[in-house]
Amino acid sequence: MASHGGDFDYEAHGAGYAAIRRPDSRIEALVHAALGDARTVLNVGAGAGSYEPTDRHVIALEPAAAMRAQRGPDRVPAIAGFAEALPLDDGAVDAVMAIMTVHQWSDLDAGLAELRRVSRGPVVVLAGDGDRLPLYWLNDYAPDLIAAEQLRYPPIAHIARRIGRTAQVQAVPIPLDCTDGFTEAFYGRPERLLDPAVRKAQSSWGFMPEGAEARFVESLSADLASGHWDDRHVHLRTQPTFESSMRLIVGQP
Ligand SMILES: C[S@@+](CC[C@H](N)C(=O)[O-])C[C@H]1O[C@@H](n2cnc3c(N)ncnc32)[C@H](O)[C@@H]1O
Repeated sequence: MASHGGDFDYEAHGAGYAAIRRPDSRIEALVHAALGDARTVLNVGAGAGSYEPTDRHVIALEPAAAMRAQRGPDRVPAIAGFAEALPLDDGAVDAVMAIMTVHQWSDLDAGLAELRRVSRGPVVVLAGDGDRLPLYWLNDYAPDLIAAEQLRYPPIAHIARRIGRTAQVQAVPIPLDCTDGFTEAFYGRPERLLDPAVRKAQSSWGFMPEGAEARFVESLSADLASGHWDDRHVHLRTQPTFESSMRLIVGQP
């Protein structure tokens, strides 16, 4: 198996990720509430440790060394491993979390079954709803990116069916000043997407055909300079939250 577990090579592209993808405290509060009163938590696809609680016993699991190396001194070290084969006993932890990672797994159903197997309580998954992606204005500038993302995102209902006897799906409102730099986080700050460092921390750009990223930069730059973007979307610059594609799916045993 490759040293990176998913469809994107974080070994090659992961450096610099933590600086742009800083966990957002409002999203974090939703994730932590979903973990309930769990004392022991497994974080799968843990990356640099975003959204990981620091007031509970955490086991972090992450396949990419470049991501494990970016974990700060306030995080537990992550062990190398894959969602599809968790190195834990059945019901070993009170709760499991998997944040913005399931779309990258090579065997989604095997991974989801593993999350359910090792958790005594909730399985908390944060994932994007592909059906909502085309509603975002980015679709006008980078349709290839949205199309590629839609192919990667597993249906939310599919995830929900596999992580518990019952599961609840909750929309996650994105704040205007969201500190976690995923593509929809910049719904009201389009200029930020022109920064190559921002796009480098968003795996989706790696799936675009040759030349498409340059065309995106050119067309968005032109529309911002001419005021065309603002003509259509100026309200987003002050809109406090945005209902993005992000969903919190919480399965119960
Ligand atoms: C977008 S990052 C999210 C990291 C972290 N959860 C966060 O919210 O910042 C996705 C992570 O999933 C990891 N990943 C990819 N395939 C995986 C697999 N099969 N099992 C576990 N993690 C995987 C990647 O290495 C990467 O660190």
